[in-house]
Amino acid sequence: MPTPINRIVLRLIPAAFFAAVLTHRSAEAAELRVCVDQSSPVKAMDAGIAQAVAKQQGLQASIVPFDGSGDDDDGLALSTFPKLLASRCQLVMGFPLDAQGGVAPDGTHATDAYAHTGFVLVTPRNAATTLDQLPKGSEVAVTYMTTPNLYFSAHPRITAQIFTTDDETLKAVAHGDVAAAMLWMPYVAGHLDKTAGRKLQVSPLAEPHAQWNLVALYSADSEAVAQQFEQGVDALRRDGRLQKLLMPYGEVAGGAQVATPHKVALRSQASMPGRLIKVSDAVAHNGDVGLYTVQQAETGRATFRSNCAICHGPDLEGRAGPALKGATFANPEANFHVGDIFKIVSENMPAPAPGTLPHEDYVNVMAYILQQNGYPAGSTALTFDSALKSTVRLVYREHTQQASN
Ligand code: HEC
Repeated sequence: MPTPINRIVLRLIPAAFFAAVLTHRSAEAAELRVCVDQSSPVKAMDAGIAQAVAKQQGLQASIVPFDGSGDDDDGLALSTFPKLLASRCQLVMGFPLDAQGGVAPDGTHATDAYAHTGFVLVTPRNAATTLDQLPKGSEVAVTYMTTPNLYFSAHPRITAQIFTTDDETLKAVAHGDVAAAMLWMPYVAGHLDKTAGRKLQVSPLAEPHAQWNLVALYSADSEAVAQQFEQGVDALRRDGRLQKLLMPYGEVAGGAQVATPHKVALRSQASMPGRLIKVSDAVAHNGDVGLYTVQQAETGRATFRSNCAICHGPDLEGRAGPALKGATFANPEANFHVGDIFKIVSENMPAPAPGTLPHEDYVNVMAYILQQNGYPAGSTALTFDSALKSTVRLVYREHTQQASN
C-alpha cells in the first residue's frame, strides 16, 4: 500500500526524467561538433562550411580535428567512422560516396550530398578534354589503386603510367612526361599551383564511378543534428553562400579551367574535403564493386585468351559460346549473381574439359570478366570461395551509357 509520499515520488520521477531528457536534448542541439580530416588539402574550407551551417542554424560549431591519412597504403579503415561518431563528434565532414549508388560505412548514416566532385582529366591547356580525344598511344598517368585505373580497358588507345602518389601523378603531366593524368578533383584543386594551373586544364571524366558526392556521416544518435545540418546546407545553397564557400577552392587551383560535364549536373562546381579514405575502398564498400584486384584481372586476361577466347571471342563478344560481356550477358532482369556465373565457369568450363583448370585460373578469369563488365577493381583479392558465395548482382555497368549511344 503506497503512502502519499510515495505517490508524490512516483509522479515526480517521470517529470524529472523528461526534464532531464529535454535539457539534454537542447544542450546537444546547441552544439554542432564536426570531425574534420587534417590530412585533407581543403580542411580549412571544410571547417568553413561547418561554421557557416552552424551559424545559420543558431548552433555553436566546434571543429574536432582527426588524421584521415590512415596508417598504411590502404588508407583509413571504414571502421574508423563509427568510432569517431561514437566518441568524438556528431558529424564527419567530407565523406565521398560514389554517385552510382555508394553507401555509408556500416554503423553510420549519410546526410544529403552538399557537394559534388569526382575524378578529372588533367591535360595541357587546349589539349584533349576527354579520353577519346587523346591521340592514339597517349600515355596517361594514374595513381595506384584509384578508380581511374579501370578506364584503360575501355580505352585501348591509351596506355597507363601508374604512380604511387597523387603528387607524382600530377607532376608527370605538369612536366609533360605524359599526355594527361586522371586524378581526384579535391586533390587537384588543392595542389595545382598558379604556374602549373595556367598551363593545365581540368575536365570531368565521363566514365563509370568518376562522379562522387560529398556527405557528412552521422550515427543514429545524432539524427536531429544531421537534419539541422541538412537544413543549414539548404539555406546556404539557396542564398548562394555554399557556392562561394566552395569556390575559393577552385580559384586556389591556380585558375585551371573547370569544364562542366554535360551528363552530370554539378550541384556545386568545386569539390570538397580531400581523401578521407582511399577512394577504391569507398567503392569496395558498396558491396557490388571492388571485388577483385587489377592484377587478377590482368592475369585473367591471359588465361581467358588461352582457354576461353576460342569459343567466347577474344573480346568476350561471343562465338560458339555466348558473349560474356554486355547487357545481354549481365542483364539486370536475369537477376543473376556473381556466384551463379562463377559456378558455371568453375564447374562447366572450359566446355571441352569442365573443371580442369587450377582454382587460381578460374578466379583470375572471373576477375577479368567482372572488369570487362565494368566492375571496378579494389584492394581485396577475389578468392575461389568468395566468388562462389558472392551474392553481388551481375549487371553490366556501362549498360545505360552504351545503350543510349
Ligand atoms: C569449346 C567452347 C568453349 C570453351 C573453350 C569455353 N566455353 Fe564457356 N560456354 C560455351 C558454350 C557453348 C556455352 C553455352 C552453353 C551452356 O551454357 O552450357 C558456354 C557458357 C559459358 C558461360 C555461361 C554464359 C551465360 O550467359 O550463362 C560462361 C560464364 C562461360 N561459358 C565462361 C567460360 C570461360 C571463363 C571459359 C574459359 C575458362 C569458357 N567458358 C570456355 C563454350 C565454351
